[in-house]
Amino acid sequence: MKEGNFLWWHRAIIYQVYPRSFQDSNADGIGDLTGIVQRLDYLQTLGIEAIWLSPIFPSPMADFGYDVADYTAIHPIFGTMEDFDHLLKEALQRGIKILLDLVPNHSSSEHPWFRESRSAKDNPKRDWYIWKDAREDGSVPNNWLSVFGGSAWEWDEATAQYYYHGFLKEQPDLNWRNEELVEAMLGVMRFWLDKGVDGFRIDVLWHIFKSESFADNPPNPGFAPHMPGYDSLLTVNSTDQPEVQDIVKRMRNLTDAYKDRVLIGEIYLPYEKLMTYYGRNNDGIHLPFNFTLMGINWDAQTIASSILAYEQALPPNAWPNWVLSNHDRPRIATRIGEGQARVAAMLLLTLRGTPTLYYGDEIGMKDVHIPLDEQQDPQGLNMPELNISRDPARTPMQWDSTAQAGFTTGKPWLRIADDFADHNVEKQEEEVNSNLSLYKKLIRLRQTSPALLYGAYKQVYIDQQLLVYTRELMGHGGFLIVLNLSHEPATFDIPSEYGGNVVLSSTGGTYDWKDGLLKLPADEGLVIHTSTHLQD
Ligand code: GLC
Repeated sequence: MKEGNFLWWHRAIIYQVYPRSFQDSNADGIGDLTGIVQRLDYLQTLGIEAIWLSPIFPSPMADFGYDVADYTAIHPIFGTMEDFDHLLKEALQRGIKILLDLVPNHSSSEHPWFRESRSAKDNPKRDWYIWKDAREDGSVPNNWLSVFGGSAWEWDEATAQYYYHGFLKEQPDLNWRNEELVEAMLGVMRFWLDKGVDGFRIDVLWHIFKSESFADNPPNPGFAPHMPGYDSLLTVNSTDQPEVQDIVKRMRNLTDAYKDRVLIGEIYLPYEKLMTYYGRNNDGIHLPFNFTLMGINWDAQTIASSILAYEQALPPNAWPNWVLSNHDRPRIATRIGEGQARVAAMLLLTLRGTPTLYYGDEIGMKDVHIPLDEQQDPQGLNMPELNISRDPARTPMQWDSTAQAGFTTGKPWLRIADDFADHNVEKQEEEVNSNLSLYKKLIRLRQTSPALLYGAYKQVYIDQQLLVYTRELMGHGGFLIVLNLSHEPATFDIPSEYGGNVVLSSTGGTYDWKDGLLKLPADEGLVIHTSTHLQD
């Protein structure tokens, strides 16, 4: 891709705000839109150019907003449509784009569409959802399972049929084979795009089509008892059907009718399948989320080979992207520890492709232990034995050392980390070596360095501890990134052509570099400016 062809979302850093937990402005203990406005200056200073808001629509909150009861309104808990318009305006003034969460796979069972659909078999909206007769013995239509546990089929007494729900029974799946439903959902997209939102993160995009055969899913040979029951089957018939590609194209066409908008897809699939969502001719989703770094073993070999495999799998002209954490998985600092989380930040912000940050990761927030009687996430509550509640990764943002970490003056909806007085934005803003300072430096460096934004990725060296790569762009010089992905000191003989100077250290700089030999302490990452290399 030529430099002039880059768009804002190639350059931007996307920041995920989990609205319930970002900033409360009305003391109800739940974050809201006005709260987000209050923190826009912070995000601007951080160097964020786009925020993705997890769902803010009316919802019974069975799955914390991913059960939408009205796609074109705002949940009163978060504010009003005026508050949203205000947020859009204030964000725009600061050069920050707003992305919404589109949840097309399922609605809430409280959505008027579903109420109508379930009211009678001959209701015009019956076919907007997925209804099936029982088998002869009265049992469920097939063996498909819900991600949140148990069968994916729920019996409806009144109309004597089952409906399908890939998630909670309060989240009935919509029928994307019904053209009226498709039009309605595309209308939802137009509604928000007309308002000026800059795009969508599309929830569970690979789920929206199910095989027309409704054949049983086969057993998963790799299933182990510590896994959720959902993983006992290979979802070959219930997800990732070829028909999804037509809808992806229609979503893209619709979006292309507006200027400069972006579609990001939530898709958990192996690379070869993930890549199909870019579309045959880059006419699909702009950024199918790449969750590699959230799922792999954190060691140099695995990380290096995953990056190469991803880079190689990308279709021509497709733009890469990287994610470290989100609201569904344990936070990066919990998964790999504080020291490595800083190395991970360096990796995220020096890789080729759009980075997405999860709120709080920039201050090294960790998962907070939530006692069972305070847990709220249905995933955790439905499968308590598996310890997979998502609450720990969704706790309130830690802003300062005042009561409730500056998040609320009321009682927070989820408890706040015990050590918030030591780990918060205000404190870290003053410390030169804090997690936040590291993020700020990395972001500034990335955003002002064409080589880091657009340059090629080239692996230079790899061993059991180290991953070394360059990011270089013709005419702009380049960077050598040396990451010690282990908790032990490491050494690296820097090839002479990569001479330069260290511009950033993840620990604050206790490395030793003499006569070409670089000695790195444990958990150290360095960005070296190789200004003399590749000048033209
Ligand atoms: C996505 C969301 C998750 C939600 C699920 C069902 O995976 O990220 O939070 O529970 O979809 O909508």
